[in-house]
Amino acid sequence: MSSQDIPEENLPAEQGAAHDAAHGGTTAVAQRHDDPFADPGLPAHRPRIQDIDERAAKRSERAVAFMFTLSMLATIGFIAAFVIFPVDKIVFIWPLGHISALNFSLGVTLGLALFCIGAGAVHWARTLMSDVEVADDRHAIEAEPEVKAKVLADFADGARESAIGRRKLIRNTMFGALAMVPLSGVVLLRELGPLPEDKLRKTLWAKGKQLINMNTNEPLRPEDVSVGSLTFVMPEGLKESDHNFNTEIAKAAVMIVRLQPEDIKDKRELEWSHEGIVAYSKICTHVGCPISLYEQQTHHVLCPCHQSTFDLSDGARVIFGPAGHPLPQLRIGVNAEGNLEALGDFEEPVGPAFWERG
Ligand code: FES
Repeated sequence: MSSQDIPEENLPAEQGAAHDAAHGGTTAVAQRHDDPFADPGLPAHRPRIQDIDERAAKRSERAVAFMFTLSMLATIGFIAAFVIFPVDKIVFIWPLGHISALNFSLGVTLGLALFCIGAGAVHWARTLMSDVEVADDRHAIEAEPEVKAKVLADFADGARESAIGRRKLIRNTMFGALAMVPLSGVVLLRELGPLPEDKLRKTLWAKGKQLINMNTNEPLRPEDVSVGSLTFVMPEGLKESDHNFNTEIAKAAVMIVRLQPEDIKDKRELEWSHEGIVAYSKICTHVGCPISLYEQQTHHVLCPCHQSTFDLSDGARVIFGPAGHPLPQLRIGVNAEGNLEALGDFEEPVGPAFWERG
């Protein structure tokens, strides 16, 4: 659209003057000066540096191309990370702490790829695409007078036939009922229960809490744990008669296995064990079933729900099945009485990955 297509009163003062001069008229200018609220029109277009300097335009072009290229590289990085990092590789990244290397690298590379596309497009639009403002007339959107009159007449007929004006009791109680109905939805929100806050991140395990054998209800001693056995323990102080027993054991259930120390491949696992005795969360990291099958020869534990398999000799790494994380390990030692004790709570949230969002 050229300035000749724009109504004269929408043109900036100098363009309007030029337009008037070109067409030999001065009336509009005089009117504009008379009217203190006259529409000032569109501001004059100011060319950008890229509009007048081809080298600046080239620079912008290269910047946009650089961002798009960076996006392509990030996408390649995304694919490479997906292939390179095993699903259970945990790394420490400050200030996030211990997180999945795969999730972190996929997030960073995908985020960078999308950001660069967006940033490149914005830079392209702001520096190289045309920025000339044009005006387009707005069409009237209101209905024709006959249509409006017909709608109003129909509405009045409906209101008269329903007798809503005459029967005030019905009308008022209907408005009250309609106003009250949404309240039931608000009340139902209570049924969603309280927010979990950080309850799913903490268990009853703490430094100095003895490991209680769930079969005997006695503190577990290292000599009670033989190679090949699978023992389930709970934290000292928790009793089956406690009102919160089910809630707490669902997070704090731990299985104890004794391995030959030389069979333990993971350095942290070895440090957190006692004479080859390792303690792992019994709650499957897929959707939270209790793990109950142990294969002595391979040191694998198996979740019966969807067959996720974890290698206890290698940091409880997932070697099969849908679980997304290794089982969290509990750091253990021996107290002065010679009983096994925890040296703290789990460092990672136990259970399924979606619990972590609680
Ligand atoms: S809950 Fe363990 S594999 Fe699904």
